[in-house]
Amino acid sequence: MEAEHLTKVFTQRGKASFKAVDDVSFTLKAGESLGIVGESGSGKSTLAKMLTRLTDISEGTLKFQGKDITKRKQRQLKEVYGNIQMVFQNPVGSFDPRRTLGDGIGESLRNRGMKKEEALKRVKELLEQCGLDGEFAGRYPYEVSGGQCQRAAIARALAVEPKVLICDEATSALDVTIQKQIMELLEKLKDTHGLSFIFICHNLALVQSFCDKVMVLYDGKVVESGKPDNIINAPQEAYTKKLVDAVFE
Ligand SMILES: Nc1ncnc2c1ncn2[C@@H]1O[C@H](COP(=O)(O)OP(=O)(O)O)[C@@H](O)[C@H]1O
Ligand SMILES: [Mg+2]
Repeated sequence: MEAEHLTKVFTQRGKASFKAVDDVSFTLKAGESLGIVGESGSGKSTLAKMLTRLTDISEGTLKFQGKDITKRKQRQLKEVYGNIQMVFQNPVGSFDPRRTLGDGIGESLRNRGMKKEEALKRVKELLEQCGLDGEFAGRYPYEVSGGQCQRAAIARALAVEPKVLICDEATSALDVTIQKQIMELLEKLKDTHGLSFIFICHNLALVQSFCDKVMVLYDGKVVESGKPDNIINAPQEAYTKKLVDAVFE
């Protein structure tokens, strides 16, 4: 994935326009993991939604496997969604409360024409790969814990067989032990599924062990980027120092 000068401008009626993401560039190679850190409101989620093309890109260019996907619309986006999937902070809210987890996870499979029984079999495999019993396919989102629901959300993303998984604060709402287990699962998926990751969070400590490189966002701009160890041990910007101190105090 190649992002060049990505910018997102929000315009609200009667108000001056506002740049939530401002001139962000990076390259993500196959199998690589990129961390994006920054305080709340720094533009992380907006950037994630641009990368998955859930929101339009105001300026700049986004390429995936060499193809320009910056301006793709509707039907042409299918290929993008098939390659780039996202996991969000609130897993329970990301599932339809009236449908079972298995139904939600299997949706993309059935849309691809897979028969119902075959899809259910695959769903159970995916659940097991994510550390849940296949029996969870029959449960509703409100019948599982937050950590279990996040595992199901990861299984749903994997059903599509994406190349890139974007995790937007995917562990932030979970308590520390569960967070650790989900991180272990993601780490395992790097190998078993050959995934590239964009890992968004405000906790530099998580980024340090998981990511090959990291970008620090402030006010929509990249203020610092490089290897996590270098950034944590020798932050160049006052803002990054603050983020580092917040983790290790
Ligand atoms: N749809 C929107 N319309 C207008 N402003 C938005 C919209 N979405 C996000 N913003 C603003 O963009 C900024 C960045 O938000 P966000 O990307 O959610 O930050 P983060 O994920 O880092 O907390 C915030 O100031 C937010 O209020
Ligand atoms: Mg966010």
